[in-house]
Amino acid sequence: MSRGVDALIFSEATSADAFAARFAASDESTARLLSAVVCHMHDLIKEFRPSQDQWRKVIDFLTDVGHASDERRQEWVLLSDLTGASALVEEINSRRPKGATPNTIRGPFFRTDAPERKRDSSISLDGVGEPLLVAGRVVDLDGEPVAGAEIITWQANAQGYYENQQPDLQPEFNLRGLFQADAAGRFGYRSVRPAGYSVPHDGPVGRLLADAGYPLHRPAHLHFQIRAAGFETITTHIYDGGDPRLGEDALFGVRPELVRPFEPVELEGQAAWRVTIEFVMVRAKPGRTR
Ligand SMILES: [Fe+2]
Repeated sequence: MSRGVDALIFSEATSADAFAARFAASDESTARLLSAVVCHMHDLIKEFRPSQDQWRKVIDFLTDVGHASDERRQEWVLLSDLTGASALVEEINSRRPKGATPNTIRGPFFRTDAPERKRDSSISLDGVGEPLLVAGRVVDLDGEPVAGAEIITWQANAQGYYENQQPDLQPEFNLRGLFQADAAGRFGYRSVRPAGYSVPHDGPVGRLLADAGYPLHRPAHLHFQIRAAGFETITTHIYDGGDPRLGEDALFGVRPELVRPFEPVELEGQAAWRVTIEFVMVRAKPGRTR
């Protein structure tokens, strides 16, 4: 698109165009994306009209986010997660037919090396917490079992902490496991009922949102990744239907079909909980499993 020389003179009215014009006739998607980002940023500045000091604080915040990120902690991802950006990107990229289990974000506590465990074994290596029985089935959209599907699970403990957050307090791989569905698509294991937890609020992102009165809570949930040859991989949560704070998940993962009741049962003379789950997989398009 050709632009007259007047449009290139930087002013409040022309600021975004003045930026975009410098890409000349570039049709690169990066150029188009950058132009759009800058256009939205200029619109925001024009709407809120920050002082130079206020703008400096914005830059200081972003600087702090970078400084708080290292190989163990990713504050940028936290910013993306807590603003709903991660959930939106997931939603756009993994839209599934009605009846299929939706994807949600994987979150920061996933480990790729969860140990393989036997059917009906316990993933609670320290046994601390109220016993939970998980019984599930993996099926396709026609309700047919997906035999041999791999189910990876990971969850917080009864205090709301993941094993890799407390390497000195919890056994390695506590509350993690990899299971294989049988010929009927069934799987099952024992665990403990997880607690909800707060996302980190000791860094710049959590502090900013908490100071603004924004809830940083995650309702109690189990994480799952389900893989099977020829099917799209599912990465999702199952939420404890009894958690009173389901409506304010800080990471925007709650979908009605992912909320399941945790029912009281008796297990070997002890009070326990039971949750039943069905994962519905979608056949992968050629060359795509995700
Ligand atoms: Fe989690």
